[in-house]
Amino acid sequence: ATSVRPTRVTRAVPGLTVAQQRRYASNLEADIVVIEKGETLGGTCLNVGCIPSKSLLNNSHYYHMAHSGDLQNRGVIVENVKLNLDKLMEQKRNVVKALTGGIAGLFKKNKVEWVKGHGKITGPNQVTALGPDGSVVNTINTKNIVIATGSEVTPFPGIEIDEKQVVSSTGALSLTAVPKRFIVIGAGVIGLELGSVWQRLGSEVTAIEFLPAIGGAGIDGEVSQSLQKILNKQGLNFKLGTKVTAAKKTGNEILVSVEDAKDPSKKEDLACDVLLVCVGRRPFTTNLGLEDIGIERDEKGRIPVNSRFQTVVPSIFAIGDCIHGPMLAHKAEDEGVITVEGIAGGAVHIDYNCVPSVIYTHPEVGWVGKTEEDLKKEGIDYKIGKFPHLANSRAKTNLETDGFVKVLADKNTDKVLGVHIIGSVAGELINEAVLAMEYGASAEDVARTCHAHPTCAEALKEAHLAAYFGKPINF
Ligand code: FAD
Ligand code: NAI
Repeated sequence: ATSVRPTRVTRAVPGLTVAQQRRYASNLEADIVVIEKGETLGGTCLNVGCIPSKSLLNNSHYYHMAHSGDLQNRGVIVENVKLNLDKLMEQKRNVVKALTGGIAGLFKKNKVEWVKGHGKITGPNQVTALGPDGSVVNTINTKNIVIATGSEVTPFPGIEIDEKQVVSSTGALSLTAVPKRFIVIGAGVIGLELGSVWQRLGSEVTAIEFLPAIGGAGIDGEVSQSLQKILNKQGLNFKLGTKVTAAKKTGNEILVSVEDAKDPSKKEDLACDVLLVCVGRRPFTTNLGLEDIGIERDEKGRIPVNSRFQTVVPSIFAIGDCIHGPMLAHKAEDEGVITVEGIAGGAVHIDYNCVPSVIYTHPEVGWVGKTEEDLKKEGIDYKIGKFPHLANSRAKTNLETDGFVKVLADKNTDKVLGVHIIGSVAGELINEAVLAMEYGASAEDVARTCHAHPTCAEALKEAHLAAYFGKPINF
């Protein structure tokens, strides 16, 4: 690209997004100043989100494979298996350090300036960086401002988080010992991922969920039920349709009071050593100066933006967790890139229907597009193609046969409307489905695309074949 623009884009926050954003913006010749209050760059995702959680998920999975007899079953004898939690945490810290440091390196390389401080918008074209004591560190005058201040844990009324005994995801990523009993409030994405980590490391885990299903918003009902069975078999306990009413610390123990969501007379107290509160996240816009500049937040605390991610103040844009849409790093990243391109005069387009979701349990869950429930609600005629990993040669070879691929396609046009996968590598496979949907593929298109053998991706091809032709070849 392209033309030289004397644009000065100021973005309040970094994240993985910034590197990408900077790469684009640097091509577009804009000056970028990032105001970040944290000690390191990379935002939630790199510091206390995606990256540390995936490190713990991956390494706890290996421990569990060795400890549970899985490796033995494969002919690999490892005796006297022990957990070195300090080492596990050290590896997590190392990857976080490497990746956040990588962002700092990219900043330098691309001449992005990091102003450390709390960014407050003090005019349509001005951001003031404040120090911890509220003093002014720097005042930046700029042509455009992009708000990317992210989100924070939604508090649970009456339950105070100390990040040691009563933790949010941040504390649950850094426990110094394996708790004997670990209770999770909310069986959404964080509850399942971090519940899995500690269950694999030896905790007795119970996830309490208000709804009758696990997996949080957007998961297909059949997939949710199947995942619940699989995780339950692994040892994760669920109390669904159950409401937490209070939690009280008594010495080293926490008593969690719950009642049946439909019949409040059914009550009980559950004891645990560590309690994880993960009932969702909410936009973080504290002391950002929005009120003074005339930007009102919606009922969920989000910053309203138009299709170019522009707020009601034309020079101020917003992206990521602090606006509408799923709170996902790749969604924030894509919004960052197209916002900057838009500021530079380019087209701005994102199809939220093609933003994938992944739950990194084992097996993983990945999905994109519509669920069966969505299609029923919208009155769209659809057909289903399903293929179990049990019939996939690679999954069988790997002894990873839990789960299936489910394709939902338009009954009349064969267009793929949604793909839902449970499987050991669902998080990787789902990206093929995203690409197909981005290009408006039919189930036949994917079914007729040559897939390498033996790969788990063949299950995806077979499920598309089942949707288009009525049956797969190998099942
Ligand atoms: P953030 O990454 O939250 O960045 C906001 C930044 O702004 C922070 O660094 C903050 O310090 C800074 N900031 C805020 N206000 C100010 C201010 N006024 N001045 C200066 N700085 C400010 N998503 C996935 O896609 N995949 C995953 O596997 C995944 N795992 C997750 C696991 C956990 C435990 C959690 C909590 C989240 C996870 N997420 C995951 C969600 C993902 O982290 C977020 O969607 C993503 O980080 C949002 O990016 P963002 O740029 O909008 O905000
Ligand atoms: P979530 O929205 O995924 O799940 C919260 C769960 O808590 C829901 O199932 C909800 O019904 C339940 N809940 C709410 N109030 C409750 C109550 N009073 N009692 C019992 N249950 C209650 O939110 P979560 O897990 O906190 O994660 C926050 C966000 O972080 C996610 O929405 C996601 O966007 C992001 N994230 C993404 C990950 C990924 O992409 N793999 C991993 C972790 C987080």
